[in-house]
Amino acid sequence: MTDRSTHTRGVALVTGASGGIGADLARVLARHGHDLMLVARSGDRLTALADEIAAGGAARPLVLALDLAAADAADRIEAALAAAGARVEILVNNAGFGLMGETGELGEADQLAMVDLNVRVPTQLCVRFMPQIKAARGKILNVASVVSYFPGGPGMAVYYASKAYVLSFSRALAQELLEDGVTVTALCPGVTPTGFQARAGMNGAFEAVPATSPARVAEEGYRAMIGGRREVAPGLLNAAGAWLMPLLPVGLTLKLVARAQRRRR
Ligand SMILES: NC(=O)c1ccc[n+]([C@@H]2O[C@H](COP(=O)([O-])OP(=O)(O)OC[C@H]3O[C@@H](n4cnc5c(N)ncnc54)[C@H](OP(=O)(O)O)[C@@H]3O)[C@@H](O)[C@H]2O)c1
Repeated sequence: MTDRSTHTRGVALVTGASGGIGADLARVLARHGHDLMLVARSGDRLTALADEIAAGGAARPLVLALDLAAADAADRIEAALAAAGARVEILVNNAGFGLMGETGELGEADQLAMVDLNVRVPTQLCVRFMPQIKAARGKILNVASVVSYFPGGPGMAVYYASKAYVLSFSRALAQELLEDGVTVTALCPGVTPTGFQARAGMNGAFEAVPATSPARVAEEGYRAMIGGRREVAPGLLNAAGAWLMPLLPVGLTLKLVARAQRRRR
């Protein structure tokens, strides 16, 4: 990455950094010498992570506690960066959540909030900070999911669809930005034990599925991003699933997913 500005410092902006995969992505980025801005709603957890990172000898991350779903979230991030004399050279769109249940049974507001956080927010942040990222010949890491490769997710339909969007958007963006020297990577984890499962209402439903630790997901995601890879599904099983899924008949896959999700509820 090239620092073309002598007046501002480049940071990696990490959304959803207060726990789970986002917190580990922040740790990996800090270990590799990147300055950070951490964003999530839980200010106390962000501050604790910033303290931990600073105690490890890295630069103290900027911390911004906000709800990314708020209409002025991108404006507030932009203002906080400007006030700190910082600009985005790496954007990590990680914040997101899922909800388990049939579309007709889950609430309208909850499902629209999922579309908002998983789809609108990463899109907006990519667009908003594109000029800064291009100027730095920087990088974008969008956290999708191994379910992005599925033809659909009956029993978790909006979540699967939102993550299919993230993969599709990231791939297209990677192509569009090729000549700008900006790389875009979709990180596609499988089951990763974090706060995600409780928030989704999974109640131990995935305990039998082999899991990958958030630390490993973050490490592989970071490596893929630095290597300029277009997508990565950490863990052998997930990588195999990502490769195999598009080859399977759509109808059969939908039936199998519906059956598995029903058993889990
Ligand atoms: N865990 C898995 O099995 C798995 C698998 C595939 C993909 N993923 C994806 O990985 C990403 C990270 O999830 P995770 O597993 O690490 O889950 P997590 O532990 O629940 O972390 C989610 C993060 O997003 C933040 N967040 C949620 N709503 C927010 C909002 N409205 N505004 C700002 N921040 C918000 C949370 O912080 P606050 O609550 O403090 O705001 C938290 O830092 C998500 O995009 C998820 O879809 C997870």
